[in-house]
Amino acid sequence: MAADKPIAPRDWKTQPPYLYPDYKSTAKRGPTRPLLPLKSALAQRHAPVYGQEDIGALDHDLTRNAVRNGVPLGERIVVTGRVLDEDGRPAAHTLIEIWQANAAGRYVHKIDQHNAPLDPNFLGAGRCLTDKDGRYRFLTIKPGAYPWQNHPNGWRPNHIHFSLFGQYFASRLVTQMFFPGDPLLALDPIYLSAPEGARGSLVSRLNLDAAGEPGFALGYEFDLVLRGPHRTPTEA
Ligand SMILES: [Fe+2]
Repeated sequence: MAADKPIAPRDWKTQPPYLYPDYKSTAKRGPTRPLLPLKSALAQRHAPVYGQEDIGALDHDLTRNAVRNGVPLGERIVVTGRVLDEDGRPAAHTLIEIWQANAAGRYVHKIDQHNAPLDPNFLGAGRCLTDKDGRYRFLTIKPGAYPWQNHPNGWRPNHIHFSLFGQYFASRLVTQMFFPGDPLLALDPIYLSAPEGARGSLVSRLNLDAAGEPGFALGYEFDLVLRGPHRTPTEA
């Protein structure tokens, strides 16, 4: 990516509004007054740089990075894809962090008291760096749906949280990846908060060849765009 090129402004045609009433938490999180423009020098500030030496050998493998006495339960999946800038160029050697519920729909977090079992062999957190072509790869367990308090009997569709910086602080992207064909998508205020034309970019594609090894795991492809008019919708 060209370091001297100004950051493309946010294109609201692809991004959820800060305030989306059906997603109740946005009422507390979303700004109610006009934002202060970021000085260009700050916007251009480079994000933290990580090297391969900062990443553990199993950080990308959520099926093994927290095992204690066995293997995690659930459907093994590979999630892979590319990270691109607004010109379609690869975001190379950039950090991707993910977190997710286990197969039963439970997070390892003290606030999550959903009546579903924790998995002693699954933490639900991982990270990796993209390669020179912007490609990443995680091995994990398909997360389960879970109830949330946003509205009566609300359930989140299966999803994986993603966080990326890219090259700049201003290109920080926090979003969620969904799975194709999930019937809960049509009922999910977070998914629906993204403009209709951009929602498809939040849904991964089934690719049976992505796992690289027949009969081992289901493969899903999920590309992310950090900036510009095709920027992946952020979480509101
Ligand atoms: Fe979640």
